[in-house]
Amino acid sequence: MHGRTPRAGGFFAALRPRSHPPAPSVPALEIRDACEADLAQIAAIWDHEVLGSDATTDTEPRNPAAQRDWLARHTEIYPVIVAVTGHDLVAYGSLSPYQPKPAFARTVEDSVYVRRDRRGAGLGTMILGELVRRAGALGHRSILARITAKNTASLRLHARHGFRPIGLERESAFKLGRWHDVTIMQRHLDAI
Ligand SMILES: CC(C)(COP(=O)(O)OP(=O)(O)OC[C@H]1O[C@@H](n2cnc3c(N)ncnc32)[C@H](O)[C@@H]1OP(=O)(O)O)[C@@H](O)C(=O)NCCC(=O)NCCS
Repeated sequence: MHGRTPRAGGFFAALRPRSHPPAPSVPALEIRDACEADLAQIAAIWDHEVLGSDATTDTEPRNPAAQRDWLARHTEIYPVIVAVTGHDLVAYGSLSPYQPKPAFARTVEDSVYVRRDRRGAGLGTMILGELVRRAGALGHRSILARITAKNTASLRLHARHGFRPIGLERESAFKLGRWHDVTIMQRHLDAI
């Protein structure tokens, strides 16, 4: 003997496959229509941007009643969708009428918001892809996006989905102590 204690079961036991504890299951990502139960998590994502960034030119968080109104105004042809894993809502997006006039009913404006801790991992791409697909299926003519001109992530996201810049509003929005240019991008849907 060389001083080593032989392992129980000897050489052949060491070759037997070991049983590992089962890997913790990660709930699959699902994209679905939003419902009232999602509003608190949607508001938590949106309020961050309303209060602390120029990603949106909105400046006032919505109270729960205003959130419910917002969802109710998104009727069948103006969907709100969410990305969820289990009970965790990690991103959402919507299509809204670009203008309240009837002539503009088939031109929609999109919004896409990803929870801060989940950015840069393709969720925005998934949400916008689904919005483009639905806009085409719902018979809309084009989608517009109004993006503060320094929001590189949103500009790239929209460019990736075939949106092209069609205009620039110069210093049209004042937020967090300074003026912002707003880029307008558009994606036509006749090819879908
Ligand atoms: C803009 C936003 C929706 C993008 O979602 P995301 O899940 O982080 O983006 P993705 O991982 O799908 O990446 C989409 C594109 O943006 C780019 N991107 C992502 N984060 C970026 C960053 N911080 N800076 C520069 N580009 C970035 C990616 O490289 C990718 O471009 P590519 O396809 O050319 O490589 C997300 O950052 C967000 O919620 N921002 C705050 C809210 C907002 O700005 N909404 C849009 C209002 S118009």
